[in-house]
Amino acid sequence: MNGTSHENVTVIKSRAVEYLLLKLRNRSTGTEEFQKIGDRLMRILGEEALCRLPTVKQGKVETPCGAVTGPVDTPGPPVCIVSIPRSGDILQEAVRNICPGLSVGKILIQRDESSEDKTPKLYYKKLPKDICSSFVILVDPMLATAGSAIRAIEVLKESGVKTENIMFLNLICCPEGLQAMAKSYPEIHIITGCVDSHLNEDKYIVPGLGDYGDRYYGTV
Ligand code: PRP
Ligand code: URA
Repeated sequence: MNGTSHENVTVIKSRAVEYLLLKLRNRSTGTEEFQKIGDRLMRILGEEALCRLPTVKQGKVETPCGAVTGPVDTPGPPVCIVSIPRSGDILQEAVRNICPGLSVGKILIQRDESSEDKTPKLYYKKLPKDICSSFVILVDPMLATAGSAIRAIEVLKESGVKTENIMFLNLICCPEGLQAMAKSYPEIHIITGCVDSHLNEDKYIVPGLGDYGDRYYGTV
């Protein structure tokens, strides 16, 4: 996996993800198309995360014609979906469309693009009161330095969430971000659409797709 040592990483193997992601990556893809394709892609990521919750275990179902085994839901803690706006909100909405009624949290962290190391700054948080007894899916499509994700995990910890009850769902990551996550939180399961090559001098993912939020919301 591109030289990273993080073992707790699942890279989704899906031709649909590869196909849609390549359209997003294309610099010629305009805002409207980016939104349509991005929303289709986020829905696939959402499904891939939900079928990997720790409560999904091997089980058996009876079909009208026989029996079959595979991943089935088992009882467990409530699931809370927490986003890092803006881009994380897009993925959060996709998961909410699949599973309406999930509890929702927001941790607004933005990279300070004027700082050399793109320091993450926390502006706002709103989490459900019972989050400490929930399983949390933290969502953000981009993992670059991992500063934003690690800051968000600190906020979740301060709210009583155990890190083994956190999953991080992401579209594009890079070895630098995975290594930072592995150093701080090796126990957190990361589900991602792909691992790109590296970060450039501005800490943008290469080849990446540019700034997800700017391209989706047309603020380029
Ligand atoms: C992007 C992205 C992540 C962060 C990743 O957000 O959505 O939150 O950068 O970078 P990092 O791993 O180096 O912290 P950004 O701060 O650009 O905000 P946006 O979603 O509003 O574009
Ligand atoms: N945020 C993005 O949207 N893209 C990057 O490549 C890095 C941070």
